[in-house]
Amino acid sequence: MTQRPSTSRRIVLAAQAVGVPTRETFRVEDIALPALSEGQVLTRTLYCSADPGTRSRLSSGASYAPPLRIGDPIDGFAIGEVIESTNARFAVGDIVATGGGWAEHAIFPGRGYIQKIPHTRLPLSYWIGVLGVPGMTAWFGLKRVATLKPGDRVLVTSAAGPVGATAAQIARGLGASRVVGTASGADKAAWLRDEAKLDAVIDYKTTADLVADLKAASPDGYDVLFDNVGNAMIDAVIPLLRPGGRIVISGQLADYNTASTNVPGITNTRYFIASRLRMEGLVVFDDLKAFPAAQEELGAMIERGEMKVREQRYQGLEAAPQAFIDLFTDNAFGRRIIAIGAEAG
Ligand SMILES: NC(=O)c1ccc[n+]([C@@H]2O[C@H](COP(=O)([O-])OP(=O)(O)OC[C@H]3O[C@@H](n4cnc5c(N)ncnc54)[C@H](OP(=O)(O)O)[C@@H]3O)[C@@H](O)[C@H]2O)c1
Repeated sequence: MTQRPSTSRRIVLAAQAVGVPTRETFRVEDIALPALSEGQVLTRTLYCSADPGTRSRLSSGASYAPPLRIGDPIDGFAIGEVIESTNARFAVGDIVATGGGWAEHAIFPGRGYIQKIPHTRLPLSYWIGVLGVPGMTAWFGLKRVATLKPGDRVLVTSAAGPVGATAAQIARGLGASRVVGTASGADKAAWLRDEAKLDAVIDYKTTADLVADLKAASPDGYDVLFDNVGNAMIDAVIPLLRPGGRIVISGQLADYNTASTNVPGITNTRYFIASRLRMEGLVVFDDLKAFPAAQEELGAMIERGEMKVREQRYQGLEAAPQAFIDLFTDNAFGRRIIAIGAEAG
């Protein structure tokens, strides 16, 4: 059994970010671990993740989640082992997914996101990736928001990321007739075509004519745009949507580092009338109660070899800021997983 430590380390916001965050945006802090109150759970972190949505909290004027203040811990998803519990639902030794963030230990306060991991047939880290929030975003974005139907032609942006790659493969599994993705770099394109079995991949960074390439990749247009990127991409795709087309706003990777006054607008709204288009965003936690059933189905897809998963590993708490910065600056791909309790899973 793991001993309960009296101190721990975590990463906090050192300075508000302007543009792409840097190492100076974050600092490591030593803390004392307090005694637990009734209903709380203390976990030892095994893995945590780097999530692009965190970016919107590192500056003022944040989106649906409030901005962090200087000195606030960086929250985010983590897999932990319960090492102390005053909550009847969790026992020492349980493995859980939580919002514990970039910390060696986390205290679950008694309410909020926590899920006991039901089995360990698949790698534990998948529970903060394909079976965690990214996978659930893909699942409910396509099934509930896009109401995906067999035969639909689907375009997924940032298709090599954990949300995008899962979405593209779910679309294929649900009978989409054409699945096209955007991603940058030859490695991602090769993986998306050869492993994830997309019909076409467009490098939005090197293309001479994005719209022409999108058209050529699906000459009859698209029924669904699953967008992770932001307004400029949505505006380019709207004219290519078929009657009854749906746009899922999952995320805004291209806009997170841009001041809100400089984010491009969406101008092609006239197509919404003639083509009866619909555009809707999602917050994945609205579907929290339905996670277990979706995780069961997604897990089965992985075990049948119908869902390929990419991870990029980082080692140690100090690596978390770099894992996060890399989301916006480098060309590596896969779910960014920071291993903290190295001997586990
Ligand atoms: N709505 C929800 O409840 C919810 C929940 C979780 C996540 N999300 C959102 O889902 C999206 C995808 O998340 P993820 O974890 O899978 O991350 P991700 O797609 O792996 O994000 C990193 C990738 O984004 C692309 N990218 C970075 N900067 C870009 C830019 N300026 N323009 C275009 N692409 C850029 C890069 O890939 P390429 O250059 O190869 O495309 C990069 O490798 C994010 O926007 C996230 O906020 C939403």
